[in-house]
Amino acid sequence: MTRAVCPGSFDPVTNGHLDIIRRASALFEELVVATGTNASKSRLFDPDERLEMLREACADLPNVSVRGFTGLIVDFCREIDAQAIVKGLRGGNDYEYELPMAQMNAHLTGVETVFVPTDASLGYVSSTLVKEVATFGGDVSGLVPPAVHRRLQERLGRA
Ligand code: PNS
Repeated sequence: MTRAVCPGSFDPVTNGHLDIIRRASALFEELVVATGTNASKSRLFDPDERLEMLREACADLPNVSVRGFTGLIVDFCREIDAQAIVKGLRGGNDYEYELPMAQMNAHLTGVETVFVPTDASLGYVSSTLVKEVATFGGDVSGLVPPAVHRRLQERLGRA
């Protein structure tokens, strides 16, 4: 069984994430999408809300499951016997950020990281920008699943 983990903050999940999840799910027998917390980022949705939105968005992918994790991603990979970590890459900045993490994770336990290039049409989409644009009333309806859009509007007092 080849099992991979796709970790992230997913605050909230975007169409960019879902493109990577969908394509990665075709590469591995099983893909576990894992929500963690990036201590350096401010958060709009709590862990349970992020899990719920992800579960709903991935419901049509039979070999994808969604779990939360705390602590090191390498420990979570060991716990569930995952052989690889999958990360999407939008460009050079992502690469600069992800490469040392991939190398550190390989150093810690030998787990490999597989980088999947973002679809060119989604390269500008990030949770951070989606939240910023939505906060100031911009239209992000084409960038997140409809259920996430509804929750964003509610959270920001626009519903
Ligand atoms: O969406 P993000 O911010 O890219 O997600 C980052 C996340 C949560 C996947 C990353 O910070 C992470 O793996 N955190 C777990 C703690 C850990 O293992 N840190 C060492 C990485 S080398």
